[in-house]
Amino acid sequence: MHSEPLLNVADYARAARSKLPKPVCDYFEGGALDEVTLRENTAGWERLKLYYRVLAGVGRRDMTTTVLGQSISMPIVVAPTAFHKLACELGEIAAAKAAKAAGTLFILSSLSNTAMERVFAEAASPRWFQLYIYKDRAITLDLVQRAEAAGAEAIVLTVDAPGLGTRERDARNSFRLPDGVAVENLAPLGKGAFPDVSGSGLAAYVRANFKEDLGFDDLDWLCRSTRLPIVVKGVCRGDDARRAAEHGAKAVVVSNHGGRQLDTAPATCEVLPQVVDAAGDFCEIYVDGGIRRGSDVLKAIALGARAVLVGRPILWGLGVAGEQGAGQVLEILRRELDEAMLLCGCTKLDDIGRWLFEP
Ligand code: FNR
Ligand code: LAC
Repeated sequence: MHSEPLLNVADYARAARSKLPKPVCDYFEGGALDEVTLRENTAGWERLKLYYRVLAGVGRRDMTTTVLGQSISMPIVVAPTAFHKLACELGEIAAAKAAKAAGTLFILSSLSNTAMERVFAEAASPRWFQLYIYKDRAITLDLVQRAEAAGAEAIVLTVDAPGLGTRERDARNSFRLPDGVAVENLAPLGKGAFPDVSGSGLAAYVRANFKEDLGFDDLDWLCRSTRLPIVVKGVCRGDDARRAAEHGAKAVVVSNHGGRQLDTAPATCEVLPQVVDAAGDFCEIYVDGGIRRGSDVLKAIALGARAVLVGRPILWGLGVAGEQGAGQVLEILRRELDEAMLLCGCTKLDDIGRWLFEP
């Protein structure tokens, strides 16, 4: 067991690494190819330096905000990540409960190990569903309609994965799901298991099932197919973000999928300002990738993001101590953001701006 106190996200990463099987750690931690973007995401936030303001009379900080009109206690939300039962027994239920306790948004992955109906029953509002578009339209529509019926309040369409970026760690480990662990939302539709091939089972699953020729017409189709607002996740350019908004997206997530898709894509902190400038008047803009400290959150907000998503830190929390561990990770980030606001001279999120990067 761990006798050292776990003070920060990196401590949780190390503790999770010592507890979980190597193929699981590699799947959670890894990125595409040379993992350049994976490293750059974290390094990018670290490189940004904060020109804090003094004597600003900051009292009690207020970090409450909204996403698509729904209140959250802080601008830190849970990113959709696949296969939580690889991290802990209760899987997505544990993650959803941690988000609920923290008063923040939970986004459930299409590729969860627990059926959405069960997860959303345990999650509080806001709760959103992340969608992958399957080659089979009927499967995709079924997922959307079930998500609506199960209480999802938005659909997060992931657009940066028409195919899976090659994760060489997973290929070497022949990554697959253990017996009894399935892609539960898809099991009733006959797509609950990975194909039985050598190499990464997930890569084979994506090749067999995800729509490769994704286009703006698919976004149009989705907007027509549901009454829920659509969030487009995985944009890296201002023009794409603007176009997504013109096609009906109510928000976009600046994301490179945590460095797991196109390697050598730029760090998200580098592209966030141009996306905000191009599309910020037309939709909400969130960002993810490499957020490991509360000061990273503050920097993302300073660059114009409304909120940040965190992926791996939640998985590490789940891996160390299930719901409690994921909850502690969220509380660490909350405390660190609060401290960064105090030390930067910001009482509320609206006080955080690009001036923080200007000497
Ligand atoms: C992901 N991500 C992801 N995104 C998505 O839209 N659907 C999914 O099923 C998954 N699955 C997934 C699994 C694992 C193990 C990871 C690490 C990531 C991407 C995720 O939503 C988010 O974009 C990144 O994780 C953000 O980067 P950080 O916070 O992990 O650095
Ligand atoms: C991943 C997919 C499942 O990044 O989104 O592993």
